[in-house]
Amino acid sequence: MTAAPTTDLISEILELKRARNAVILAHNYQIAAIQEVADFVGDSLGLSQQAAATDAEVIAFCGVHFMGETAKILNPKKTVVIPDMAAGCSLSDSCPAEKLAAFLEANREKNYYTIAYINCSAGVKALADVIVTSGNAVKIANAAPAGRNILFVPDQNLGAWVIEKTGRPMDLWQGSCYVHVEFTRDSIHRIKSQHPGAVTVAHPECTLAVRMLADEVCSTERMVTYCRDSAAKDFIIVTESGMLHRLRRELPHKNFIPGPTDACACADCRYMKMNTLEKLRDCLANLEPQIHIPEDIRARAERSVRRMLELSK
Ligand code: 13P
Ligand code: SF4
Repeated sequence: MTAAPTTDLISEILELKRARNAVILAHNYQIAAIQEVADFVGDSLGLSQQAAATDAEVIAFCGVHFMGETAKILNPKKTVVIPDMAAGCSLSDSCPAEKLAAFLEANREKNYYTIAYINCSAGVKALADVIVTSGNAVKIANAAPAGRNILFVPDQNLGAWVIEKTGRPMDLWQGSCYVHVEFTRDSIHRIKSQHPGAVTVAHPECTLAVRMLADEVCSTERMVTYCRDSAAKDFIIVTESGMLHRLRRELPHKNFIPGPTDACACADCRYMKMNTLEKLRDCLANLEPQIHIPEDIRARAERSVRRMLELSK
C-alpha cells in the first residue's frame, strides 16, 4: 500500500475508530503521530486502568505485545488489536512462563509470594500472586503478606529499586530492559556536565549506577507530574525517547533534554517503534493482528492483574 499523506491517514484512522466503536490506547513511548491520534496516552498503570474501564467494543493498543495482552486479560469479550504482532519486549522475553514455573517448582519450600512487573507474558501473570507497574510497585510490595519470601520478576533493576524503597528483602529474577541498561554512569555524567542546572529524572528500569545520579526515579506518568510541579525549567529525561514528546506537549514552557547512551544521543525501544500510523490504520480496518489467550491462562492472569488494580486505588 502506498503511503497516504498523514492528514488523510489520520482521517481514515478516526473514521475507522468511529465505525468500529474502538478506543486507541497508546504508551508514552509511542511515536509522536500515534500519541497525537490516541484517545489516551499514558504509562502501563494508566493504560491498564483505561483498558479496565472502557465501553468500546474494540481496543487498539499501541504499545508492545504484553500491553495488548493485559487489555485482553481484562476484556475477554472485546476485540483487542495491536499494530504489529512482532512488537515484543526484551524484559518480558527474559522470563518465559515455563522457566518461571520450573523455578517455582524447584523452590517449593520457599513458598514464594511472586510479584510480577507488568512487562511479562500472560503465562507469567497467571503464575504471579500480584502484578505491579513502575507506578505502584512500591505501594504493592509494601502490602505483600508479612513473613512470606518474595520473588520479584522479571526486572532485576526495578526489583532492586523496590527493595531500596520498601526495605523488604526479595529474590530477583535476572531480567532487564535492553533500552534502559544502555544508559551508563559515564553517559549520564557527560550530559549532566553539559547542563549543570538541569534536574535528572530516570526510570527505575535503569541500573543502580544511573539511578544514583538521578534527582528523581519514577514511572513515565510520574515524570509528567514531577516536572510540572518542580520549580526547575531544564530536565534530563533518562528513559525511552517517546517520553520527550509527551513531556514537551504537556509542558511546552519547560526544556527536556534526552538522556544519552554511550552510543546515541537518546534511546529508542525498537519494539515500541515498530508501530506506525499505517499499521494502526490497518489493524483497525482488518481487526488483525488480534490478541488471543487460552481461557485458563487468561482467567488466572486476571486474578493477579485485578489484585493490582484493587491495591492501586
Ligand atoms: P511505565 O510507562 O509504566 O513507567 O513503563 C515503562 C516501560 O518500560 C514500558 O515498557
Ligand atoms: Fe520492553 Fe524496555 Fe521496550 Fe519497555 S522499553 S517495551 S521494557 S524493551
